[in-house]
Amino acid sequence: MTKGKGLYETLGIARGGMQAWGDAMIQNFMFFDASVVIFIFIHPRIMITALVDSVIMMQSLVLSAKNRGLGTCPQGSLGMWRSPLKEHFDIPKGYKLVCGLALDYPKEDEKVNQYRPRKTES
Ligand SMILES: Cc1cc2nc3c(=O)[nH]c(=O)nc-3n(C[C@H](O)[C@H](O)[C@H](O)COP(=O)(O)O)c2cc1C
Repeated sequence: MTKGKGLYETLGIARGGMQAWGDAMIQNFMFFDASVVIFIFIHPRIMITALVDSVIMMQSLVLSAKNRGLGTCPQGSLGMWRSPLKEHFDIPKGYKLVCGLALDYPKEDEKVNQYRPRKTES
């Protein structure tokens, strides 16, 4: 089962259920109400090296958060929409937005957090 399909089934979103799908998208772009969201940028002149470093750093953040009882959600979709960030942060010229990472204590009773994706495709 693909991750997206399993997630939407857990959330009770039927295929073609545009309203529910839209609501889930809003939650995604609200970082699932996490208290903290980290945005990862890379230097434009050292792209591949910086990209590798950023992914290693992100994994370290995810594991270290887990070790401290926190939960994370790496969100590739947050890398698609840079303009709102420019209103809040002084981003050095040319820096490329890679993705975001939501961070908070996990709320286990939330439906979205009850989804446990399989680690291998069947
Ligand atoms: C490259 C990548 C991008 C992702 N982007 C998003 C995203 O934008 N929104 C989202 O809800 N989950 C996204 N996910 C999925 C979650 O980060 C996470 O992997 C998923 O909830 C499963 O978590 P687990 O592997 O810790 O069980 C992405 C995963 C990967 C690998």
